[in-house]
Amino acid sequence: MISKQKTPLAIDGGEPVRKRPFPTINDASGRTLGSEELDNLRQVIDSGKLFRFAGNFVSEFERDLASLLNMKHAVAVSSGTAAIHTALATLNLNPGDEVIVPPITDMGTIAPVLALNLVPVFADVDERTLTLDPESVTERITERTRAIVAVHLAGNMCDMDVLKSVAGAHSIRLVEDCAQAYLSADNGRLSGTIGDIAAFSLQQSKHVTAGDGGAVVTSDDDLARRAAMFMDKGWDRARGGRHYILLGLNYRMNELTGAVAAAQIKKVEGVVQSRRESATALSAAIRDLPGVVVPYVRPGVQHSWWFYPMLWDQAQSRFNAQEAAAAMQAEGIPASYGYIGKPIFDNPFMQERKTYGDSTYPWGSDGRDIIYRNEDVPRTCRALERLIVLPINENFTAQDVADMAEGVRKVALTGSLDS
Ligand SMILES: Cc1ncc(COP(=O)(O)O)c(C=O)c1O
Repeated sequence: MISKQKTPLAIDGGEPVRKRPFPTINDASGRTLGSEELDNLRQVIDSGKLFRFAGNFVSEFERDLASLLNMKHAVAVSSGTAAIHTALATLNLNPGDEVIVPPITDMGTIAPVLALNLVPVFADVDERTLTLDPESVTERITERTRAIVAVHLAGNMCDMDVLKSVAGAHSIRLVEDCAQAYLSADNGRLSGTIGDIAAFSLQQSKHVTAGDGGAVVTSDDDLARRAAMFMDKGWDRARGGRHYILLGLNYRMNELTGAVAAAQIKKVEGVVQSRRESATALSAAIRDLPGVVVPYVRPGVQHSWWFYPMLWDQAQSRFNAQEAAAAMQAEGIPASYGYIGKPIFDNPFMQERKTYGDSTYPWGSDGRDIIYRNEDVPRTCRALERLIVLPINENFTAQDVADMAEGVRKVALTGSLDS
């Protein structure tokens, strides 16, 4: 039970709710790294086989990831960005083709689109879930649209049924960006198993971490074969000899990374379970507070809580979201305002169209003049203004959740307009 009693806020000189740090994904306190990873690493060093085609850990990680998702293939790569690049490259699109993407995501979703000379087209999001709004996606489809990248932001699922039927109706490929979404599910179907191909990240902060790393997952044999070649400079090793079949890069994962990844993937179910318990308890504790809008999860969806995206209702508070987040920070709660702060396209190189020399390519291609404006994605802008990110990780205890709820409670009640 949340008490209604008000105490002076730390920003006004009161006692902070929490004086010791929370477990964080930035170090061991919020991660599950331990003896399993160390044992694997020792084996790699002892064997002297650091290259993936000499050792076994990268392959083991691939097998475990594919089997966890009940998919035919997983191909490990060197980062989540490399995974998106590889996934899109398998689709064999033409320069200037359009790919629909959301404006709330990491640059790792967008840069590979441009690196393939494809044109990112931004659809608006559903303000409640921060994921692609299928209606807006439909509005953005042109005769050049070839793919949609569905980003399951923070671990919440895009509306995949609708996106899949939109993609099917227009013969467009559907790529899932699961960098933030391991074992999320929509009516029992796991993230990464619904589209044509999916990308995962193993960067420091992710549910499964090896510092950096990534993987693509698909059950399509041809896409998997192309992915395996793309991440290996286009080399078709299965054929024997040295034949470069397609234009590829070196995005191979090495065995040191694979050793950690292979140990980590075996822990991911526990990681996600623990995050779900913390997020459920947090939502129950703060949902009725003035100003607080707990994350919306569609019926049938299982969130995996990469972070806890709370929306702030300023109509109920004398604080705006930025002020509320600052007040929570003063209480010792590591809240942050706005995630990426602005739509991803509102960054200098994209606004100034600095890609390949002075060419403005691919935007300037075919006489199209694609301009990215905040007013074209109003729900994205509103959501970012209201968004307060509360960190969650697998090592949160019930006390951590209670303290976080108490920090939110203090700020919400003190800021409340109806008292
Ligand atoms: C949604 C999303 N896509 C792609 C990426 C890129 O992953 P990486 O940092 O591993 O390259 C990230 C990383 O944060 C991400 O959050």
